[in-house]
Amino acid sequence: MNHSLSLQTKELSHKNTLDLVGFYNEATEDYAFWSKDFNMHFGYFVPWKTNPFKRDSMLNEMNRQVLNRLKLPLQGGLLADLGCGMGGTMHYALKQTSGLSAFGVTLSEFQLREGNKRLKNLQGTILQENFNRTSFCSNSFDGALAIESFCHSGHSKQSFKEAYRILKPGGSLVIADAFLKKDPEALCYGGKLSYEKLCNHWSLERLGHITKVAQELKDTGFSEVSVEDISFRVAPSVLHVPFAISGFILKKLFGSGALKKESLHNLKGSFYALLSGLHMKSFGYYLITCKK
Ligand SMILES: C[S@@+](CC[C@H](N)C(=O)[O-])C[C@H]1O[C@@H](n2cnc3c(N)ncnc32)[C@H](O)[C@@H]1O
Repeated sequence: MNHSLSLQTKELSHKNTLDLVGFYNEATEDYAFWSKDFNMHFGYFVPWKTNPFKRDSMLNEMNRQVLNRLKLPLQGGLLADLGCGMGGTMHYALKQTSGLSAFGVTLSEFQLREGNKRLKNLQGTILQENFNRTSFCSNSFDGALAIESFCHSGHSKQSFKEAYRILKPGGSLVIADAFLKKDPEALCYGGKLSYEKLCNHWSLERLGHITKVAQELKDTGFSEVSVEDISFRVAPSVLHVPFAISGFILKKLFGSGALKKESLHNLKGSFYALLSGLHMKSFGYYLITCKK
């Protein structure tokens, strides 16, 4: 597995893939501060349903929204989580849907080891594989999801093609992520700065342009491509960032006293995510649903 992983990572266009792996190996445990359920993403706010002061209720609502759109078979079926982190979404899905089985892929061995411990006794397994070229058989999954993961490969066509290949005909792909509303060259000074810093600190290849991404999904063969701008649903959880960062730093300083360089990198990335989010004409958070 490790040999094949190193071959796969060589093929990734991201010049800093090894940085990405190192980043997630070292910084993943910090996410325990962001989410006790190890959701490594932003949340989805529903007025009167999710409590805007309780982060995990919004983060789990994002899981629910993504899963609802997948329309998995009633008896469960097989789910792929492409860029699964610690398996927070898989955990949520497997607890909610009886008869469901799931595979997740990540590049990080820390997430593989610790995530699989959390999935013990559930029908879910995390593999250390590249979502751009998995070992899964073609036409094998009822649904596939990618929450804040395809951005690491720049929302590349290769990721869409691979998702398409592993889905059964009729199966759905749901992507939840931030996208650009314009080409990077058209960003204003502040937008460009926060975008570059965001990509650098979170090891993102780039963010796709939402209109072009929708077209690329169609070109890949997906039908019924639906694009929902959910920026305002996501905003309440993004506003948690400054509080989470301050709390995390205080805890570290009064605890072990040490702040790892990867943790600092991650905190800066969160800050630039917040800054980017404020440029609402340039960035948006979207849910994309499409069908094979
Ligand atoms: C921000 S985390 C999101 C994790 C998870 N989707 C969640 O919402 O909790 C991004 C994840 O994408 C994974 N990832 C990035 N590039 C990948 C690739 N080429 N193949 C597999 N996993 C990848 C990382 O290892 C990490 O687990």
